Amino acid sequence: ENNILSKLPLRGKKFLVTAGPTYEAIDPVRFIGNHSSGKMGYAIAETAAEFGAEVVLISGPSVLKLENDFIKIIRVTSAEEMYNAAHEYFDSSDVAILSAAVADYRPTEVVSEKIKKKTDNFTLHLTKTKDILASLGEIKKQQFLVGFALETQNEEENAKLKLKKKNLDLIVLNSLRDEGAGFKSDTNKITLISKDNKTLPFPVKPKTEVAKDILEYIIEQTNA
Ligand code: CTP
Ligand code: CA
Repeated sequence: ENNILSKLPLRGKKFLVTAGPTYEAIDPVRFIGNHSSGKMGYAIAETAAEFGAEVVLISGPSVLKLENDFIKIIRVTSAEEMYNAAHEYFDSSDVAILSAAVADYRPTEVVSEKIKKKTDNFTLHLTKTKDILASLGEIKKQQFLVGFALETQNEEENAKLKLKKKNLDLIVLNSLRDEGAGFKSDTNKITLISKDNKTLPFPVKPKTEVAKDILEYIIEQTNA
């Protein structure tokens, strides 16, 4: 079609995107977090909306602002809150892209008063959080499920294992080793790995361009 609609390849599609870090409370004033900025997930949400999709963005703590007023943003803090929000919206989604840097562990107990400094050594007990992506992989029906993988060794091999274990349709391997890639950066270097284990590497690009690459690939795959 050579009209305005041809620029909206995702019109009528519902997207669920997770982004940013999670914060796991230790006491009323402290938490365990990570350096994720949310830039990659926000760029994916904005680009999907530009392509005509109806987007729900579940965001951990982030200072980023959305340009597109039509994106529904759900702000959460902890992995558990993100899990609950993701499950609320997953059923009705066509595509779910989980780019959040979810904490793998949370403090086993959240203390209600600020912990006072006493002994020279202090041990914090941690409990594994629920894996949101894997839990969606278990209940997935029509949804095209996309995960990210952050690896520092045996990158492709580990990403392929995650793809299979979590029942994904696509995994985006993030290369932290390369110059201009990673958490705080405005650029990223990715390799896409599909369910049939085909790998597609991309050069370092701005995260907005990376978002386009990922979405164009998803459009290709879901129309196939
Ligand atoms: N993820 C998730 N819930 C968690 C942990 C991870 O949804 N509790 C998702 C991330 O959003 C990402 C994918 O799982 O899409 C892979 O995250 P990653 O940290 O690379 O892998 P893990 O499975 O957590 O394994 P590890 O950290 O040990 O490599
Ligand atoms: Ca992890």
